[in-house]
Amino acid sequence: MKRLHQAAAALLSCVLAMQSMPLNGTVQAADSAEPGKEILVTGFEDKAVSMFSKRGDDDTSVITASDEKPHSGDYCMAIKERSDGWNGPSISLESLGCKPGVRYIASAWVKAQWYNDCKISLQYTDADGEQHYNNMSSAISQGEWVKIPEVKFSFSSDMKDVQLYIESTDKVELYVDDFSLTEGPTYHIQKDIPSLKEVYGDYFKIGTAVTAAELAPDATKDLILKHFNSVTLGNELKPENMLDQKASQAYLKETGDDTVPQVKMNGAARTILDFCREYNIPVRGHTLVWHSQTPTWFFKDDYTKDGEWVDKATMLKRMENYIKGVFDVVLTEYPDIDFYAWDVVNEAFGNDSGNPRDPGTYEAGRGESAWVKVFGDNSFIKPAFQYARKYAPANIKLYYNDYNEYMTAKQDGIIELVRDLAKDNLIDGIGMQSHLDIRKGSDAFPSTGTYAAGLKKYVEVAKELNLDLQVTELDATLDKGFHDDEAMEIQAKYYSDIMDTLVKYKDNISAVVFWGTTDDQSWRAWGYPLLFNEDYSKKECFDSIVDGIQYTTAASTTRVVRTTTTTTATTEKITVTTPDSSKRLAGDVNLDKSVDVSDAVLLAKFLGGDSSAKVTDQGKANGEVDGKEGLSTDDLTMILKYICKLVVLK
Ligand code: GLA
Repeated sequence: MKRLHQAAAALLSCVLAMQSMPLNGTVQAADSAEPGKEILVTGFEDKAVSMFSKRGDDDTSVITASDEKPHSGDYCMAIKERSDGWNGPSISLESLGCKPGVRYIASAWVKAQWYNDCKISLQYTDADGEQHYNNMSSAISQGEWVKIPEVKFSFSSDMKDVQLYIESTDKVELYVDDFSLTEGPTYHIQKDIPSLKEVYGDYFKIGTAVTAAELAPDATKDLILKHFNSVTLGNELKPENMLDQKASQAYLKETGDDTVPQVKMNGAARTILDFCREYNIPVRGHTLVWHSQTPTWFFKDDYTKDGEWVDKATMLKRMENYIKGVFDVVLTEYPDIDFYAWDVVNEAFGNDSGNPRDPGTYEAGRGESAWVKVFGDNSFIKPAFQYARKYAPANIKLYYNDYNEYMTAKQDGIIELVRDLAKDNLIDGIGMQSHLDIRKGSDAFPSTGTYAAGLKKYVEVAKELNLDLQVTELDATLDKGFHDDEAMEIQAKYYSDIMDTLVKYKDNISAVVFWGTTDDQSWRAWGYPLLFNEDYSKKECFDSIVDGIQYTTAASTTRVVRTTTTTTATTEKITVTTPDSSKRLAGDVNLDKSVDVSDAVLLAKFLGGDSSAKVTDQGKANGEVDGKEGLSTDDLTMILKYICKLVVLK
């Protein structure tokens, strides 16, 4: 990123400070965060529990203050007469004054009988009125007090009626004490470090995965814009979020046809896809056919969880209509997003073998597959690819995706499958998830040698069958509790070796996608597996994968602006073609019909070479205010002076 002239930069930061505005042009609730500020911290010593309520009319919970063996002090909160595990104490974040984009930290002590997984969860309603539930942190109580570990979370402005609640596996009596909800700090990304997508720009796309909630803080958006040119939706395009049970049942009732499950977009997917569309970020579709995160009702008579399993013929039709439906709804709404890849089938092999998974339901939590239950084996895979090929536009490449993909038996199974699919031109590539584990004092799993050997084998197959390879979910955990300088160094070396191996095969690999942004947001946060710390600062493993790679920065390659007079627009001045002088409002760079600090911010980012800063031709013409030809920091200074009421703009 180019440096702004000092005078303009100083003036800009002064104006930003005056207006308490972050560098993204809009006033964000996030910047009002006061780290450590208590939102609700209570040991229930005042016997006040009324801020918690039961979860709707079907919840039978009775919530009281109780002196039955509290965790600390004299009282705790007791939740009795629960008729299901989801019954429990819930608190509205809105009622507590919580705001979108702010990072919050929640924890609680809980006690439940027998063996109960007690969770702090988040519930919210999306723009379509659909409810979502997110289990965020949990601890197992077997009749003793346990602490549900701190969870850090945010929510975005399109998540409504956001509730934090505590639940347990069974409907047993539940006790809660020392509940804490506080504000976390607001972070900003490091701007002056290399951009990963630029560093690896000559080799492959560098991607990340993100959920709607993770995308809420501005820093996450900034991090993605700076480093990544591919986004995978962490959960939002999976069957459990795309399938609509009520609409499917209604369709069945109306038509008598039980082969057309209804598919619909969800607000959480839109949150991410709107962001990708706005900033032109290519997307990996993930995932169509999977044993996990796919509701059992999808496989049952009348679309009811307790119904009989349907037969193969019915399920094939349901699968076809589901796949068609997903492409229909997503591409109708987002025809302009570059969905360059889609995982058609995910994780079809059981126990790191080349065999199918055991039959069963995903909800049972044992990794069993309802697909295998209906089909008896993995014969559902080929039709899935046939339907995907039939309904996906040609630009969407189709992948088989799996983890522990370098384990010999499993890899052999994957390769056999892929050969069979490639014979009929049904597949375009193999997705190697690459969830890796670095171990203290012993070799990593996989060792870099094992990973390299596995990759080499895939490369040979890819070359032979003319397929692409993508690393789709890369993360590398450290052993629990191993988080000192030595750990960071070992992780840096490991990541560096892995990336070097991937670069070696750059001609066969089109994307390397990390599964997440900052360590604390990872699904394996305990192992600090990603490239960025919780505060968005880079880790040693970031440096190690950047060091030594020659690359060209976007500032010198993509910032050439169309011009009528000159093609040497890579230097200080950007030449502007005035589109329509009658529409000109001097200083209105972002075309919002007013001139304020958001125009200055946008112009500053644009001049600084930030590829996320989009300025239209009209915006550029409006930004030309210093009386000299071409956009420069002098224009920025003039706009800032105008905002400070020091000059009039012409
Ligand atoms: C698998 C899936 C991903 C994700 C991760 C865990 O690897 O393919 O979609 O669910 O597990 O977050």
